Amino acid sequence: MTAVLDDNARLGFEISDVDLSKPLDDATVERLENEIVRHSVVVIRDQKITPEQHKAFGARLGELAIHVAKAYLLPGHPEVYIVSNVVENGRNIGVSDAGPTWHSDFSYLPAPAKYSLLYALEVPVIDGEPKGDTSFASTFAAYDALPEKRKRELESLKVIYRYGDQYEKRRQSGSQLVALTGEQRQQTPDVMHPMVRTHPKSGRKCIYISDGTAAGVVGMAESEGRQLIRELIDHCTQPRFVYRHRWRVGDLVVWDNCSSLHKANSKDYALPYRRRMHRVTVSGSVPF
Ligand code: OGA
Ligand code: MN
Repeated sequence: MTAVLDDNARLGFEISDVDLSKPLDDATVERLENEIVRHSVVVIRDQKITPEQHKAFGARLGELAIHVAKAYLLPGHPEVYIVSNVVENGRNIGVSDAGPTWHSDFSYLPAPAKYSLLYALEVPVIDGEPKGDTSFASTFAAYDALPEKRKRELESLKVIYRYGDQYEKRRQSGSQLVALTGEQRQQTPDVMHPMVRTHPKSGRKCIYISDGTAAGVVGMAESEGRQLIRELIDHCTQPRFVYRHRWRVGDLVVWDNCSSLHKANSKDYALPYRRRMHRVTVSGSVPF
């Protein structure tokens, strides 16, 4: 189940000796962050935490971000974004499919997310099988696997990200998302990021793209840019670079948005099977 990336680093690492409902000492936070940077995805099992405790843990890793899709923030806790298919009073309490395509969180912002912390409150189980897995792909392993010449070519390129377009496309193709307001659109103008970015902590180079919000490549015709983005997404998401997480209630999964891509698998369950997760997002720096 865990993808082996090289001799000593694996994508996806499980920790079960931490209790996030209690304040953490500096040494524990440092150890956890080291594992996140090393393995890109850390699964902390068997947690029972309140939104306050979830935010408190996130805040130990950096400044918390607030999602632009304001309709799905937890009342009283704008830093908590709800990912859920649950309907209450005729309205979805959260976004029911937070990531149908391979993406990195907030890649459409000038300073994208550093880490995301997704906590499972309810997981759909059908005939004893958990559904609604999340898949992760290692973008540093994918970069390392490229031929040297290809690495140099990609390093000089910049990707253009556009939030509103893909949001609208998803909305029109039957998703329950509410329309963005003019203000929300203004908050998300086009941004550019390097196609290959350097991890601010490990110094490792990572392919940086998001399927859906990456609208093109600077200096390329739109179709050519989209084709290159498609090709790189396919490269990064080969099974040898992927870890698929099967959720258990109480899992808190932290991922590094520089060194990994992720994607929801939301087609294998539907109401009355409920999925309810809370996400806290830690802001990052401008990619370089
Ligand atoms: C997210 C996301 C995937 C999932 O919360 O950022 O992409 O499986 N979630 O819910
Ligand atoms: Mn996401």
